[in-house]
Amino acid sequence: MLSTVKQRADYTFKFNRTLGRHGWLRLTPAYGVKLVEKILASVERDAIILDPFSGTATTGLVAAEHGNQAVTFDINPFLVWLGNAKCRNYCEDCLINIRKGVQQALKEYKSLVEQDNWIPQIFNIERWWSSYTLKCIAALRTALVNQFGETEENKLYDLVWIAFCRLIIETSSASFNHVSMSFNETTTHFEIEYIEELFVTILGFVLSSAEQHIQGKAKVIKTDSRNIVELNNIKVDQVITSPPYPNRMSYIRELRPYMYWTKFLDEAKEAGEIDWMAIGGTWGIATSRLTSWQVQEWKLPEDIFLVAERIQTSKGKNAALLAVYVLKYFHDMHLHLSSLRHILKNGAELHYIVGNSTFFGNMVDTSALISKSMQMLGYSEIHSKIIRKRNCKKALYEYCVSAAWSDS
Ligand SMILES: C[S@@+](CC[C@H](N)C(=O)[O-])C[C@H]1O[C@@H](n2cnc3c(N)ncnc32)[C@H](O)[C@@H]1O
Repeated sequence: MLSTVKQRADYTFKFNRTLGRHGWLRLTPAYGVKLVEKILASVERDAIILDPFSGTATTGLVAAEHGNQAVTFDINPFLVWLGNAKCRNYCEDCLINIRKGVQQALKEYKSLVEQDNWIPQIFNIERWWSSYTLKCIAALRTALVNQFGETEENKLYDLVWIAFCRLIIETSSASFNHVSMSFNETTTHFEIEYIEELFVTILGFVLSSAEQHIQGKAKVIKTDSRNIVELNNIKVDQVITSPPYPNRMSYIRELRPYMYWTKFLDEAKEAGEIDWMAIGGTWGIATSRLTSWQVQEWKLPEDIFLVAERIQTSKGKNAALLAVYVLKYFHDMHLHLSSLRHILKNGAELHYIVGNSTFFGNMVDTSALISKSMQMLGYSEIHSKIIRKRNCKKALYEYCVSAAWSDS
């Protein structure tokens, strides 16, 4: 049966690239719109949808496009900003003002190229952009700030900063050919006319998709999903989400360029601090903190301790550290599933898209371990099914773990 499971690119971020707002900025671990649509197909219009691991707000936006109400959470402030910008309706006047402001900025910025413009404190910045490209995008940023203010100053102008983020990534040497990010060998020197043309094209794409009215409503709230507080007495009917996987992938890694240029990050150590709050994060300080991390909740399924023990006793490099990493991942997911319960309606349904991983030949069966946590926490009707293969060589799959909640 496993040999027939396909990679299904249509269930990944790749499917979203041409889908209007969904294609504004990519995050490689984002799931495909199609996957959320499939789950939502049988959900009533008045159902309230929750995604506690919002990322680029795929769930929130699909739900709102279907006319539902959605609430989503993320720990990363940039993703909270991006998600809200994607899910908002923009009036015609606002789009006209943006077009006018950008025309002004484009008149001004060429005269700013040789001045000392603000550039972010990105380590090894010349690895990302050639020095001339950097001067041009820094000048364009200054001209845009002169027209619209800094990123979070006026939410009606968020679309300008989304287009700018897209510009900086498209002119950078970052390469996104696989489910992560790497650098091309060299940076490209872009002519100023090309940069302008590219920005105008990107902005056109962003503004035309922003014209489409969204029927429902979605809001992204900065929340730690391990510790969910009340939602103004709102309870949710459906949880549709894709939490981080225990695979040592840090979202902050590919978000850094956007976050620096929009001033969500000032210096490198802040990235590690944000990633320490993220489940499964390993960026910077997030890895060294694992050595002193203490279990807060010992009442976990026994299999979680067993899998950590198997990793610890294997001969791999850093086996002890990675055993703590895996233990902390499932510990944090357990805290999340526990704290989620008080905002679920009686009869609420959960759908978690999760991926398995391996450490030194030890299979970490995420769907089975999450199912055990759900069982221990009183969820019912727990079942899981494979939805796609993640990698052509290794036995890595994505699963949908579903469950129900009843108050009794
Ligand atoms: C796999 S991504 C979600 C991708 C999303 N489905 C999409 O389509 O863009 C997981 C998200 O969980 C967020 N996250 C990690 N730990 C969190 C926590 N403790 N509380 C809230 N969000 C968290 C990460 O910042 C990341 O955006």
